[in-house]
Amino acid sequence: MASIKVRKAVIPAAGLGTRFLPATKAIPKEMIPIVDIPMIQLIVEEAVRSGIQDIVLVTARHKGAIEDHFDFNYELEDTLDKKNKKDLAEISRSIGKSCNLISLRQKNPLGLGHAVLCAEPAIGNEPFAILLGDDLIDAKIPCTKQLIEVYERENASVVGVMDVPSPEVSKYGIVGGKMLNPKLMEVSHLVEKPAPSAAPSCFAIPGRYVLSSKIFQCLKETKPGKGGEIQLTDGLQLLAERERLLAYQFEGIRYDAGDRLGFIDATLAYALKRPELAPGVQELLKKHLKA
Ligand code: UTP
Repeated sequence: MASIKVRKAVIPAAGLGTRFLPATKAIPKEMIPIVDIPMIQLIVEEAVRSGIQDIVLVTARHKGAIEDHFDFNYELEDTLDKKNKKDLAEISRSIGKSCNLISLRQKNPLGLGHAVLCAEPAIGNEPFAILLGDDLIDAKIPCTKQLIEVYERENASVVGVMDVPSPEVSKYGIVGGKMLNPKLMEVSHLVEKPAPSAAPSCFAIPGRYVLSSKIFQCLKETKPGKGGEIQLTDGLQLLAERERLLAYQFEGIRYDAGDRLGFIDATLAYALKRPELAPGVQELLKKHLKA
């Protein structure tokens, strides 16, 4: 049976962002910019470049700025037009035009699995991608596109994984199963933050998935785990018991922009990729390293 095309994506962005306090007291973590682009915009751009048409944003009470960012800002754009700053007006407008955004609220931060479940009314029976709102992946072929290709070829749910050094497995959800080729695994089980000695592999899940809608039923049956939260990893374990679940080692560099050092790493990497900024940033780095 041919697989159904993946047209929708969920971006969970309802978390409290406690690792980024005090910045996140009044500003959503996902709106913090990497140089001058809010991290959520980079995530939405990845989804759009992957062929996604509808983006379901799962937000929360204090996250209205995210919705505003993807809307038009008539006052700003009109003022820029009148001042003949058409290029800046177009930058602002193009964000509003970039995709069809559906915004839903997670009323309580009951975990990532619960946030994904909140998107069910907007996803229905279709397969869909998930992109975490603070995980950046810099790749020639967008990571989500790589996963969609696997989903559509294999007609099976797939999680994106990266190879991490053994001492770091305890920071991630880790997959275990049978290798089908050096980059593709048939997943039989998942372990959340295992000790290195208990990890079934070094394949870690950073924050990209393409899943069948069966995950919703699995999440409904998932009991709260660590910290009273409904974990997506636990829902994925149920999914792996019920249908084929694959793990694909994507090409690309991942930045955990929700962590302070990961954020600095991402900021430097993205700044150094911009020709108008790279020489200045290199000079600054030299200055600070000398000091
Ligand atoms: P994180 O644990 O990285 O985000 O969740 P957080 O909870 O916002 O941040 P810290 O740990 O307190 O600093 C990964 C992703 O899942 C979303 C977050 O917004 C983030 O994009 N999430 C998490 C939800 O949408 N709802 C939740 O209940 C929890």
